[in-house]
Amino acid sequence: MSSATMEATKPQEGARTKPRILSGIQPSGIPTLGNYLGAVRHWVRQQYEAESFHPIVNLHAMTLPYDPKDLHQRTYDLAASLLACGIDPEVAVLFVQSQIPEHTELTWILSTQTMFGELSRMTQFKEKSGGEQPERVGTGIFFYPVLMTADILIYDADLVPVGDDQRQHVELARDVAHRFNSVFGETFVVPEADIKEEGARIMGLDDPTMKMSKSAASEYNYISMNDDDDTIRRKVRRAVTDSGSEVKAAPDKPALTNLLTIYSQITDRTIAKIEQEYEGKRYGDFKNGLADALVEAIAPIRARIEEFQADRAELDRILALGRDRSREITVPKLERVREVTGLVT
Ligand code: AMP
Ligand code: TRP
Repeated sequence: MSSATMEATKPQEGARTKPRILSGIQPSGIPTLGNYLGAVRHWVRQQYEAESFHPIVNLHAMTLPYDPKDLHQRTYDLAASLLACGIDPEVAVLFVQSQIPEHTELTWILSTQTMFGELSRMTQFKEKSGGEQPERVGTGIFFYPVLMTADILIYDADLVPVGDDQRQHVELARDVAHRFNSVFGETFVVPEADIKEEGARIMGLDDPTMKMSKSAASEYNYISMNDDDDTIRRKVRRAVTDSGSEVKAAPDKPALTNLLTIYSQITDRTIAKIEQEYEGKRYGDFKNGLADALVEAIAPIRARIEEFQADRAELDRILALGRDRSREITVPKLERVREVTGLVT
């Protein structure tokens, strides 16, 4: 093969000077502090060293019952939030998943290389469909990891920075990439999960055994990146603590460990340093310090979210730019996939 053809078929390989990262987020409301510390903050840091792609995965958000009006609005709210957190749309590629039809076509093709058993073992599927009769579980929630695999593979992403809850899905994407390459010849880069240790699993403020999540039953479970100062302080005050009175992270102190992790991540200081600062002090003092740190970090982000929310035309311009930059990659990549799989085009 001449080098020109090589370039046309596999443009990224030899030519790639920066790693390519891809990570998506569902438009299920304004991101939580868990999304921010587990994922978005890392994306903001990495965007200058990597080629970054960040889909707002609205097709994934359709897999559980939802209201169409909400989904539409939340897609814009999430775009505003990601921009407010520091995603630079001139650097990273920020786009809406449903605007790139190649993701869904590749999903179908990859489904032929994904085993029923593999999907049945996904813990997120088991959790989200748990308790329901199979008759009442939509197949979208079962199929969800195939769409996520397509999101990743169509960009030949090297790294997938996610929170710990997505580890199993990225493993599946790796297995499917390997399988596809061995059946049809080298086509996809085999991606790796990039899970940062600290912040990978931020737990609920009301229950440190469950991950912090927007879909939790109580609003005291999470902090939203647009909560106002009073709400942040109230939620921190109400956060559960462990028995005892020492401000210390330890396996038998899950609540304090979680609060110390949040404090440490948001202020970029070590847990040891914060423990030292609160030695001999009470939980109340510690919570006041934590609330101050959170207010300081979140208030400017909240203000920027509001600015972006007020300018729909600017959001549309940014998302159109992302769509066009994405399709520069997905259109030729899918063409190549159609070729190797024998599809007449
Ligand atoms: P989602 O909102 O489920 O689309 O998640 C978007 C990103 O945030 C994914 O990378 C998740 O792994 C991450 N994430 C969600 N919840 C948490 C949490 N409680 N702690 C750490 N990371 C999280
Ligand atoms: N399933 C992921 C979540 O719920 C979101 C997602 C969709 C994603 N496609 C992706 C994450 C591709 C990383 C890469 O968090």
